Amino acid sequence: MTTEKRSETHDPKIKIGIQKSGRLTPETVTLLQKSGLEFDPTGDSRKLSVLCRNFDAELYFLRDGDIRQYVARAKVDLGIVGQNLLYECGSRNLTQLLELGFGKCSLAVAVPDESPYESIEDLNGKKIATSYPNSTRRFFKMHEIKTSIIPTQGSVEVAPRLGYADAISDIVSSGNTLRANGLRPLAQIYSSQAILIANQKMSKDKTEQTENLLVRFKGVIDAAKYKYLVMNAPYKSIDGISKAAHGLKSPTVTPLAIEGWVSVHVVIKETDFWDTIKALKALGVSGMVELPIERVIF
Ligand code: PRP
Repeated sequence: MTTEKRSETHDPKIKIGIQKSGRLTPETVTLLQKSGLEFDPTGDSRKLSVLCRNFDAELYFLRDGDIRQYVARAKVDLGIVGQNLLYECGSRNLTQLLELGFGKCSLAVAVPDESPYESIEDLNGKKIATSYPNSTRRFFKMHEIKTSIIPTQGSVEVAPRLGYADAISDIVSSGNTLRANGLRPLAQIYSSQAILIANQKMSKDKTEQTENLLVRFKGVIDAAKYKYLVMNAPYKSIDGISKAAHGLKSPTVTPLAIEGWVSVHVVIKETDFWDTIKALKALGVSGMVELPIERVIF
């Protein structure tokens, strides 16, 4: 981020654009709240902004496709959007600050279940309906496959059944919409998730505020990657436990009232959870309790 001179009319409040209503909205609100931002989630759908009580910030509830432009034109300072929108519409004047770990999906090419198409090469000369014409055109061009791209605003999945296109390219998350419409994925164009974006030219004080927010967001995001384990272990197993689960630095060990036994507390990676449990059980550990973590600050 670069900085620019603070003007007389400078508003120190950091403005954050978030989806008004869409698939990112609930998890965006949860992230902001878990990050310690206090605000009243607006029950009135006509109210399009809300002030944070304990942080110099104001939230703006915007149309998904508009957030990028509001940030690019410095009308809001930060935005939470899907990466897919930047891939499709560009990221001029924008900085991608943080992947937020939710809203995971992909842009995929899909074809009717009963169609003969087995690879993207089979779509040479075919019509592709999509709400992502730029991404889709780039993809087929890169693979040197000639297609006719048909820009479509929504409900893209019905296009093949209506004879409007031979295939589609659209956002796939659970895959339920494809299945419900008799389509199967053929290729992935890219994967996407929610990200925090900022205007490239941000005033120094807002950069500092943004850095504060980033620490909070990372704390919440990292917390989801770890688990807190409390367990009883024979004293003689401490070395083995430290190797199997070394935690953020090392396990915390406190004596139990029974001689030769200790209580061990350790933070472990969610992805290693079951392998670690297996290794700990083999070391004679018992009474394991898993606890959620609110935040991890490195
Ligand atoms: C997207 C996309 C698909 C659907 C896929 O629409 O256009 O229709 O999600 O999700 P699934 O794989 O979990 O079924 P979205 O609901 O985001 O609304 P949109 O049509 O306004 O883009």
